[in-house]
Amino acid sequence: MRRGLEIVAQDLHKAYEGGLVFALRGVDLKVERGERVAVIGPTGCGKSTLLALLALLDRPDRGEILIDDLPASSLHHPEEWRNREVGIVFQFHYLLPHLTVEENVALPVLDGRDKGFARARELVDRLGLGSRARTLASGLSGGERQLAALARALVNDPAFVLADEPTGSVDSATGGRILDELLGWADRCGGTLVVVTHDPSVAGRMDRTMQMRDGRVVDGGKPAS
Ligand SMILES: Nc1ncnc2c1ncn2[C@@H]1O[C@H](COP(=O)(O)OP(=O)(O)OP(=O)(O)O)[C@@H](O)[C@H]1O
Ligand SMILES: [Mg+2]
Repeated sequence: MRRGLEIVAQDLHKAYEGGLVFALRGVDLKVERGERVAVIGPTGCGKSTLLALLALLDRPDRGEILIDDLPASSLHHPEEWRNREVGIVFQFHYLLPHLTVEENVALPVLDGRDKGFARARELVDRLGLGSRARTLASGLSGGERQLAALARALVNDPAFVLADEPTGSVDSATGGRILDELLGWADRCGGTLVVVTHDPSVAGRMDRTMQMRDGRVVDGGKPAS
């Protein structure tokens, strides 16, 4: 079985627009291996920026991320680490519109086309998207895109999943299914899960809630010990 990763962030700063917009102003946090953490906070407080840094999609201006005690800045190929270890559900889906649902979902699977498609189909079916598997992503509803994005994030059985408002554009039944799937993955893989949400019922199913405000974590940044 795979195991989750321990993630530590120290004094992360990130500004945009040539330093005019401060998105993160000194984030400190720790997420233990296998822990499930909700990140909450008002619009614009830096949640999506933080997730992009934790996924090593972007670099902080200052500060460091430690993955199982290894400084992220020392990784020569962060994209290889990401492909192997991380599943990301973006706030705005980012499916490839000219590929079908099952092709989008199978994209991250590195160990051979047939096996990848079988696993992708299994997930797509379980999430209730079976009848849409051969549909182009451009033809999906918002909620269907969210389900497909979730399937793509989990298809590799990653060690670390980051999900940015994974239930943001779906009804409560579909939201429940998404959450069950995420928690099912975490149980099965012992994975580390960080979920940005505005929904208290989603946050309530995590081990801990981290509260952000104005580019900082103001509460719940470390595991209760
Ligand atoms: N690429 C960018 N260029 C310029 N400014 C950005 C960029 N990305 C984010 N920002 C700004 O950084 C701040 C934090 O944005 P971020 O997307 O992290 O907020 P958020 O907490 O995810 O908000 P929401 O709840 O609305 O998704 C905001 O002021 C936003 O306008
Ligand atoms: Mg956001």
